[in-house]
Amino acid sequence: MDFSIIVAMDEKGGIGKDGGLPWKLSKDMKHFRETTIGEGNNTVIMGRKTWDSIPDKFRPLPNRKNIVLSRQENLILPKNTQLAHSLNQALEQTRHNGEVFVIGGGAIYQEALNHPACKTVYLTAVHASFDCDTFFLPDESKWTLVSDSPIQEENNLHFSFCVYRA
Ligand SMILES: NC(=O)c1ccc[n+]([C@@H]2O[C@H](COP(=O)([O-])OP(=O)(O)OC[C@H]3O[C@@H](n4cnc5c(N)ncnc54)[C@H](OP(=O)(O)O)[C@@H]3O)[C@@H](O)[C@H]2O)c1
Repeated sequence: MDFSIIVAMDEKGGIGKDGGLPWKLSKDMKHFRETTIGEGNNTVIMGRKTWDSIPDKFRPLPNRKNIVLSRQENLILPKNTQLAHSLNQALEQTRHNGEVFVIGGGAIYQEALNHPACKTVYLTAVHASFDCDTFFLPDESKWTLVSDSPIQEENNLHFSFCVYRA
């Protein structure tokens, strides 16, 4: 089953710093929420460190099936959150009639980008450069820009919502 990546990235491919996001953009959070919830039957797959970065009161992400990737056998997760030990195992656990989004972080994106079923990237292009320690590094020759929103502005930052297809 095909799946998508959703990511926000700065001009140098930066996506994270010290286990968190380098910026605070509520418009992007809204875009993320609306895109990943869709019709309400979707699945989000994330790395264990991204799971850890979400405050308790906001996780699991509501109205979506949450799957956390970890190599730990005994990782404790809430009852309504699933554990998977590989990306393929996670993909097997997704809901069959909804969309599937890989939501980060850097390690999981890299594996997802190389997966043959990864067909779409929802990219928030942040038009600035931050001090980051985690990066999103796609092979640009594989991806075609199919849509680009008007420029958005918040907190003196400019950004746009792009969609790329394999
Ligand atoms: N800008 C964005 O759109 C965006 C989105 C999401 C996250 N982020 C940022 O990205 C950073 C986190 O990224 P990260 O690369 O450090 O961590 P991550 O990808 O979120 O999680 C890495 C962890 O996932 C597990 N894992 C990785 N590959 C696996 C595999 N093949 N099979 C099973 N488990 C696997 C391992 O967990 P165990 O150690 O438990 O085995 C690994 O330590 C944070 O700064 C976060 O804020 C940014």
